Amino acid sequence: MKNITFIGSGYVGLVSGAGISDFGHKVICADISEEKIQLLKNGKVPIYEPGLTELIKKNVDAGRLFFTSDLKKAIKKSDIIFIAVGTPQGEDRAADISSVKSVAKIIGENLNKYKVICTKSTVPVGTGELVKKIINKHNDKQTPFGYVSNPEFLREGSAIKDFLWPDRIVIGSDNKKSFDIMKEVYNPLYINDKPILNTSIVTAEMIKYAANAFLALKISYINEVANLCEALGANVQDVSKAMGQDGRISSKFLHPGPGYGGSCFPKDTKAFAALSRKNGQKMQTIEAAIEANKHQKIRMVKKIRSLVDGDFSKKIISVLGLSFKPNTDDIRDSASIDMINAINDGGGLVRAYDPIANDSMKKLFRNVEYFESWEEACKDADAVVIMTEWNEFRSMSIQKLKQLMNKPVLLDTRNIISIQKLKENEFYYDNVGRVSDDAN
Ligand code: UDX
Repeated sequence: MKNITFIGSGYVGLVSGAGISDFGHKVICADISEEKIQLLKNGKVPIYEPGLTELIKKNVDAGRLFFTSDLKKAIKKSDIIFIAVGTPQGEDRAADISSVKSVAKIIGENLNKYKVICTKSTVPVGTGELVKKIINKHNDKQTPFGYVSNPEFLREGSAIKDFLWPDRIVIGSDNKKSFDIMKEVYNPLYINDKPILNTSIVTAEMIKYAANAFLALKISYINEVANLCEALGANVQDVSKAMGQDGRISSKFLHPGPGYGGSCFPKDTKAFAALSRKNGQKMQTIEAAIEANKHQKIRMVKKIRSLVDGDFSKKIISVLGLSFKPNTDDIRDSASIDMINAINDGGGLVRAYDPIANDSMKKLFRNVEYFESWEEACKDADAVVIMTEWNEFRSMSIQKLKQLMNKPVLLDTRNIISIQKLKENEFYYDNVGRVSDDAN
């Protein structure tokens, strides 16, 4: 059993910290936000992640999981320290690692015995060496420490599952002792023969970006295939299905939509491309994926605008789904933000509903009317646009929708509504690359 501290109790730190405490280790989730820590101490979880509240409660009750805003004390008490602070996109597209650097300084100042420092935050390739330098600079007693890179592969909305049943664990280290200690941390997974890849620090950092940027590229690719399907009358869902049946391609991340969002793909693709340029190699594929994604969001606005005869002014447009994907309250870089901006700029009136993310979007848009059900949001609408594939929209009654609306006009950016049903109810509709329902 190890004493472990996570510095940064956000989407990554909380899930990973709770997950590792579930392996039997003693974990402190630390954060500089007193408010966040107080919430957690009162049994409240500041983010929406299915299963996280229960996982935290189970391990708090078992006396394995604690919360504090006293970083120094937590560092001193730990054998292993995970850096899990945010690395948002900076001005020059590269990731902003100022939080990582300030945490490294605090760690250096509080090294009271041998520890392994583990960066879980997504950081530009090569950051490991910088973090080690900063720690050493403030490590007055020159206390020895180990450093590893242990990138996360958690998807919001399924982060608990992704943590407890990962496809692989990546540990970048520069000595055996650090690696062996990390292997012990993940021992329960190791027993379930989950592959633990031991590589260099810089390679582990590269793996994270390479994997994420590839997933984003895959999405931009299928979005462009969908756009061509529209021009040629092909059905992208059948194309995607048949492609996915090729084991080399896999069916995952081949669903066309309004363009990817979230706190990772937009940031990681830009950081990866910027890093590549900085090292004299223009990464054409990823730069193209970024461009294609930007255009996909613009394309969705063009679609809804043409469905309302090219003019938003004074029209009521209902936006169903605000989060960047289902099962999260996160709206960062969500395609619905571009959509709402365009409708507002065009003089339209937005009525919005999201099962979870209304409150998140209220912080961004005050001139939007928010509702607690899709039925209320669609009342008297001149058009409805589905932006997030929440399950409740998949099953909504098209007949009822038509009765509620001023005009039966729908843009389905997630291809979740039956074209047959839209036709039966005489909807004027559009979607992404589908000319008819699936052949089978
Ligand atoms: C992603 C990576 O999947 C995860 O491994 C990494 O650790 C963090 O970044 P996340 O951003 O939480 O996870 O969500 P993800 O499920 O990857 O979706 C990202 C965006 O891509 C969403 O906007 C989603 O709607 C979109 N998407 C995803 C598609 O448009 N089509 C798909 O087939 C899959």
